[in-house]
Amino acid sequence: MKLGKKWMATLALTIGFGMVAAGCGSGAAPSSGASGGSGEKVYVVGTDAAYPPFQVLEADGKITGHDIDVMNAVAEAGGFKIEWRNTGWDPLFDGLDKGTVDIGISSITITDKRKEKYDFSDSYFVANQLILVPEDSPVTKLADLEGKNIGVQAATTGEEVVKKAFGDTYAGLKGYDDMPSSVDDFFNGRVDAVVGDNGVIAFYAKKNPGKKFKLVDDQSFEKEYYGIMVKKGNTEILNKINDGLKKIKENGKLQEIYNQYFGNQ
Ligand code: ARG
Repeated sequence: MKLGKKWMATLALTIGFGMVAAGCGSGAAPSSGASGGSGEKVYVVGTDAAYPPFQVLEADGKITGHDIDVMNAVAEAGGFKIEWRNTGWDPLFDGLDKGTVDIGISSITITDKRKEKYDFSDSYFVANQLILVPEDSPVTKLADLEGKNIGVQAATTGEEVVKKAFGDTYAGLKGYDDMPSSVDDFFNGRVDAVVGDNGVIAFYAKKNPGKKFKLVDDQSFEKEYYGIMVKKGNTEILNKINDGLKKIKENGKLQEIYNQYFGNQ
């Protein structure tokens, strides 16, 4: 079953890659040394475009969302060129390791563990975990989920908080390759709850108004700060990113993008 899922994900990725490549009018795999017409370096930005409303893969293969707008604005303000790659979550980190991806933006929480291998920009978004449970659930905090099946996206901070509460080998922990699969399984009754980033959980809740569920916060959930990630030591691009980010914080662009996606909440 796990194999089947991985295979499907690989297939989806392959198709995703194809679309992005086609969208760029080039079938060649862009390398980190790729350059634009002017000979200027074009940085490859990787993302897991299955995390609405932060990263969304549209039907036509275009990647849209809050983080996409942020990164495009950062690049423009920082004076560098980028191109997008829908890598998926785990392959995004691999891509940075291998150098096939220069920059990662994907609602990535800045954590001490990740900082051992990667460098992060200043933060561009503050988040926290939320729990999605059925409307009639007696759950009021994470500890109440003991013994229940909990869906998370694997290798995320959502998984971390569940492991911290119930242990690394907790049998009820179901790790999915992407967030939509965990939410689908929740609405199909295959897991009792989902733990994930508030913006995404709230988005799915809003998208499914007919379904009976509620969102539960927990005092123990710490604030999380999203950052733009590069390979450790890549200060050249990190400085450009921070420069662009500073500019869009100062000129109100970052706030404008926030309002566009989360303004009426
Ligand atoms: N903020 C969480 C983390 O860093 C989840 C991010 C997941 N992002 C995604 N595009 N699926 O672990």
